[in-house]
Amino acid sequence: MRIILVGFGTVGQSFARILAREKAWLVKNHGFEPQVTAIVDSQGSCRDDNGLNLDLVLKNKEKYGTVQRYPGKNGRKTNNSQIISETEAEAVVECTPSNFRNGEPGLTNIKQSLTARKHVVTANKGPLALAMPALLELADHTGVQLRFSATVGAGTPFLTFASKCLPGEKILGIHGILNGTTNYILTRMSESSSNFRSALAEAKAKGYAETNPANDLDGLDTAAKIVIIANWVLKRPISINELEITGISNVTSERIEKARKSGARVKLLGRLTDSEASVKAEDVAVTDPVCVRDTLNALTFSTEHAGDVTLIGRGAGGEQTAGAIIRDLVDIRSKYSA
Ligand SMILES: NC(=O)c1ccc[n+]([C@@H]2O[C@H](COP(=O)([O-])OP(=O)(O)OC[C@H]3O[C@@H](n4cnc5c(N)ncnc54)[C@H](OP(=O)(O)O)[C@@H]3O)[C@@H](O)[C@H]2O)c1
Repeated sequence: MRIILVGFGTVGQSFARILAREKAWLVKNHGFEPQVTAIVDSQGSCRDDNGLNLDLVLKNKEKYGTVQRYPGKNGRKTNNSQIISETEAEAVVECTPSNFRNGEPGLTNIKQSLTARKHVVTANKGPLALAMPALLELADHTGVQLRFSATVGAGTPFLTFASKCLPGEKILGIHGILNGTTNYILTRMSESSSNFRSALAEAKAKGYAETNPANDLDGLDTAAKIVIIANWVLKRPISINELEITGISNVTSERIEKARKSGARVKLLGRLTDSEASVKAEDVAVTDPVCVRDTLNALTFSTEHAGDVTLIGRGAGGEQTAGAIIRDLVDIRSKYSA
């Protein structure tokens, strides 16, 4: 499988490192022999239709801050559309930043790839939060796959669990914690009596919060994941604009303490039922399995026959996210080689 990789930051580089490191294992165990033919970052691109040397691309990115210094005569165009349509590849891996305002640049990259009949595996929530029904329809129309396991739970397979382990089971609703940054902040506020500002500073110092963590704190990141679960698992074609969303910036130390005294913890919960689609800070009993600490994610599927089933795991990290991308690619490959 030839792959175009768009976005070469934390996730894109982890993806390249895993492919370089585990090539022999992937071939032996899954018959999966990926070849990355182009890589794009914000400054430019590198391309080799016979397959790039990933160790060399990683070294150049580290040294020069961009992939476009890769040696050789092949393309250094900066136009994503051109790279996507002109490079020979069966799949595009999209790892540009999540943008919840207009979905770009990911939205155009994904549309372009699907239109060019290339499978897409994305870690980028923005385009899905805004236009998931249309993108799924486009993939269906052009006869290729659009996969996004990495967008919810990173390496923790919430989406795959729901679609592959619960077929035939009616999922009545879901609720849970889908953002590690806010969970860390609320945990620190509860356990060390930090106020919101000092807990946020601590999360930044530990690398759990981005320099601009607005999408996490305002609940948009969690909301995007709820939209993806609604569309994919519950087949409800909603977009992020239809959710009731409140973040955690106004959660006070007094509220945290009040919850503690009643045997609960304040958590940023995403919730989806027939009558509700929301993201807001809620009091969660410590006995509820989704009441997890620190950066963990946890999601309960309320089902008709099996009752409540909860999955817990890490919801972020370059390596974890890249692992989910590889799972999707292996799955696509097995589907098309059968
Ligand atoms: N990190 C995680 O734990 C995690 C977990 C799950 C999902 N995700 C999602 O995965 C995606 C990537 O995350 P990340 O942490 O890898 O982000 P990142 O480190 O900021 O990397 C983003 C990459 O996209 C490139 N880029 C930006 N604008 C571009 C454009 N117009 N054309 C081509 N490339 C462009 C950047 O180029 P430069 O290198 O030149 O700046 C960079 O290489 C995001 O959508 C994120 O929400 C991340």
